Amino acid sequence: MSNQRQPIGVIGTGYVGLVTAAGFAEIGSEVWCVDIDAEKIARLQRGEVPIYEPGLEELLARNSERLHFSTDLGDALEHARLLFVAVGTPPTHSGDADLSAVHAVMGAIPDSQDHALVMKSTVPCGTGASLRRAFSEQGKSGLGYVSCPEFLKEGSAVHDFLHPDRVVVGDEGGWAGDAVVELYAPLGAPLVRTDIASAEMVKLASNAFLATKISFINEIANVCEETGADVVEVARGMGLDDRIGPKFLHAGIGFGGSCFPKDVDALKQLAGNSGYHFQLLTAVIEVNELQKRRVVGKLNRHLGGLAGKRVALLGLAFKPNTDDMREASSLVLSARLMADGAAVCAYDPIAEDQARKLVNGITFADSALGAVRGADAVVLVTEWPEFLELGWEQVAEAMSGDLVVDGRNALDPERVRAAGLQYEGIGRR
Ligand code: UGA
Repeated sequence: MSNQRQPIGVIGTGYVGLVTAAGFAEIGSEVWCVDIDAEKIARLQRGEVPIYEPGLEELLARNSERLHFSTDLGDALEHARLLFVAVGTPPTHSGDADLSAVHAVMGAIPDSQDHALVMKSTVPCGTGASLRRAFSEQGKSGLGYVSCPEFLKEGSAVHDFLHPDRVVVGDEGGWAGDAVVELYAPLGAPLVRTDIASAEMVKLASNAFLATKISFINEIANVCEETGADVVEVARGMGLDDRIGPKFLHAGIGFGGSCFPKDVDALKQLAGNSGYHFQLLTAVIEVNELQKRRVVGKLNRHLGGLAGKRVALLGLAFKPNTDDMREASSLVLSARLMADGAAVCAYDPIAEDQARKLVNGITFADSALGAVRGADAVVLVTEWPEFLELGWEQVAEAMSGDLVVDGRNALDPERVRAAGLQYEGIGRR
């Protein structure tokens, strides 16, 4: 088997697994995908895509001849040496990852000099070492192990896979690390070749740093509200400094998703396990929790209490271009509003089905205008493009009140005000 464009196996067909599979198929590899969820595999075999991710359906369709889906790990073992692992590794209370899904994969692989696991799932630093210990305890010392963390963002995952800022490959020498480097070579990204623990830490530290940037600008926004400064102007001025950069300086109602909240906590716990108190991350998490709740305070102040009031939420997903509701700020916000006696009506163009599984007690509208009808206040929760184009005159006519809280600082305040509505952003004048 040559190292170039060699076939690969991908275990786990969630966001990361499917995008990785489709991306490697696009650059010429035969890909053998495995998942224990038979229904999901059946859908993928029929050409259906079980998640919403822009561009993924087209990429899978275009490369359908190179993509194989099965519930049988044996298929991947037979055809591929590198087995990319993209199964769930949720955190436990101690901050360690729940590696039961990875252990199940390991249990099904015989000892082999010809196979290696390539860890794509985010795992705490030290996981690679403990898995390698487990390999040898099970008499499977021949299996290779490579840490190759994924940095793609939901909503732009296909683009991120094909145009990575960097590729990080952590290994302890041997054929598998070289083979992973070869696989990624056509993408032309800067390579960080390092040891396993450092590769694992690059991933956790990157997410924690980005989350810190968000909590930092959110605190600046809160101070701006007290001092009369405008956080959008402040972020623009800061972001032009090359050392700071403009990205991840958008103040709002807090970060969510399946990664930042989990990874920041995992890194904090990981440090704690070794006796180090990571104070900064404790604050990052706390600021984020408070930020989700600040909107409730704004509504209370403007409406003079929430009991009996109608609040419309525009967007529910944790960010635009995804149907992912995990750790979405809307979950806390809607629960707090209802607890204070408000009736909540929401509209999300894509995430409604996922939201229905997680939120009770709110009503769902079929459109933005449907959601705002009769509302005392509107909160922009997720900055879907269609909300930025809304006709605010129509919104004003449909509402019974006049308050618009822009939870993502994404709207044009002048346009909202020109329709006779009150505009309130996060940290804006
Ligand atoms: C994040 C990282 O950006 C990816 O590099 C990483 O691969 C991924 O986690 C992961 O670990 O798998 P993702 O969770 O898809 O990606 O979403 P982001 O685009 O990073 O946004 C996360 C949250 O931060 C969203 O709720 C977003 O609204 C919020 N955010 C982002 C802000 O509030 N302000 C900003 O300036 C940027």
